[in-house]
Amino acid sequence: MGMLGQPQRSDETRGRRGVGDNRSAGRAWLLAMLALCCGGLAAGASMPNNQPSVAGRQATDAERGLDYILNGDYIGSGIPRSLWDNIMRLRDAGPLAIERFGSSAGLPHDLNGFTSPEGVEVVAGANCLACHAQMFDGELVIGLGNSLNDWTTSNAGILKAFESLGRFQFAQGSPERIVFDRFLRGTKALEGHIQTPFRGVNPAFRLEEVAASWRNPADLEWMEAQGFEPVETFVASDTPPLWHVHKKQSLYYNGMGRGDFRRLVQQIMVVGIDDATHAAAINENMDDVVAYLESLRPPPYPGEIDPQLAELGMEVFETNCASCHGTYGASWRDDDPAWTYPNRLVPAEEVGTDPLYAEMLRQSELWKWYNDSWFAAGQGEDASYAQPKLAYVAPPLDGVWITAPYLHNGSVPTLAALLDSSRRPTYWSRSFRSDDYDLDQLGWQYRSQDAPDGAPKTYNTTVPGYGNGGHTYGDDLTEGQRAALLEYLKSL
Ligand code: HEC
Ligand code: HEC
Repeated sequence: MGMLGQPQRSDETRGRRGVGDNRSAGRAWLLAMLALCCGGLAAGASMPNNQPSVAGRQATDAERGLDYILNGDYIGSGIPRSLWDNIMRLRDAGPLAIERFGSSAGLPHDLNGFTSPEGVEVVAGANCLACHAQMFDGELVIGLGNSLNDWTTSNAGILKAFESLGRFQFAQGSPERIVFDRFLRGTKALEGHIQTPFRGVNPAFRLEEVAASWRNPADLEWMEAQGFEPVETFVASDTPPLWHVHKKQSLYYNGMGRGDFRRLVQQIMVVGIDDATHAAAINENMDDVVAYLESLRPPPYPGEIDPQLAELGMEVFETNCASCHGTYGASWRDDDPAWTYPNRLVPAEEVGTDPLYAEMLRQSELWKWYNDSWFAAGQGEDASYAQPKLAYVAPPLDGVWITAPYLHNGSVPTLAALLDSSRRPTYWSRSFRSDDYDLDQLGWQYRSQDAPDGAPKTYNTTVPGYGNGGHTYGDDLTEGQRAALLEYLKSL
């Protein structure tokens, strides 16, 4: 199983993981078909929490939430399963990272199988795990932001081919044709709008913005004409881990997601649902989904931690970092699990990291649309709303050893480089292999380059929005203090 070995603590409450080997064959093709991207087909054993609930035992809310994330209908429409199976039968999709059950049997972890409101069995992506789970040294870590994704290419051609086959197979007016057309409508609207300048960053905000721009905010019906113009150029982001949700009062890098989390986290549905009635039906499941998100905890650091050095690091942390990032107790001592988290929103000017992502979220009309929409207006106590500030949340640092690359735009490959800004590379590339992690520097093994080469695997921090400056709180520490701090960060 490589570097990770057996997790030292296999405590069920710390991260939910399945086991497998990364396998990317077939991947590009598969997701290209959906005009949406993703993770990795992989080999291996099943994940216990994916099992249907045992007869005679009541599933907990969190278990039902994971079940809905894996098998639920929140994407709203998809490719009819009969068409899917016709095509996929010709291909060996390879072994799966996790075993799937029921409506999703046989599908990779980043696609859902479900029955649409028209009664048609469909397959759709991207599901939550396409972006919020990642292979790590051969294991699927649910909740880890997927930084191996590739959103640099356009998939229009393959989607077109799929469309032709569907038009041939399903008669005009048939339920299959209706649900497939609805899926095509959403995915085609995204074409040419969600490509990122290099690999590893995620266009989720853009995806939302473009799909929402075609919907009437009040009833969520798709309109004849686009309701607002998406911002001219967009910045993609890193994907945050989901095990922070239980500590957070607001969601997203700029803290703009306020109010009821149950509505905020169902936003991916704007690609494929029918209307607000459909949205409300999906919302019935969101209590459980949020319960699952709140139950997530990070996987423990798999190597040795030097307790004396970590103790020193904790002092450095509490003096220099805790006022923004909170306190974590000393988990390696097992007797001090207490934590605090201030939920601080820090002005972009103060933290000094690239402000363009936050600026774009303010400029975009998406937040006005959102606050007029089913998600917000007229929902009383269940309302969510968007409040974009030119600021970034100081995130909790639980499991920070595994969440590279760092900062909201994923511009810094390792924690060692984050703590010493003189060591941050301007152009850097990595293998995008899930086992290529550096457990000492804490982050991806990378190659620093003198010049950009335009290759999709090369991160270019000179592109607007992708700068790696700011957050210099580690610069004035001594080498010794930084080493101690790094040791402490392994323990969170
Ligand atoms: C296309 C990729 C993608 C899909 C699909 C997706 N997300 Fe996300 N998600 C992201 C990205 C990227 C962010 C960060 C955006 C930001 O903070 O500005 C995010 C943010 C979040 C956050 C806020 C985390 C925090 O710390 O503030 C939650 C919670 C979340 N997503 C849950 C979900 C759930 C549940 C689903 C499925 C119903 C889902 N997401 C589907 C990419 C995705
Ligand atoms: C004034 C508040 C503040 C202080 C002090 C501070 N940080 Fe931060 N930190 C932030 C903010 C805000 C962000 C998010 C910036 C962004 O994403 O652009 C951040 C991001 C980070 C991240 C990146 C997390 C990720 O997953 O991308 C790490 C790691 C981090 N800080 C560690 C530290 C350490 C260690 C210290 C002490 C040496 C420290 N911070 C001091 C506000 C602070």
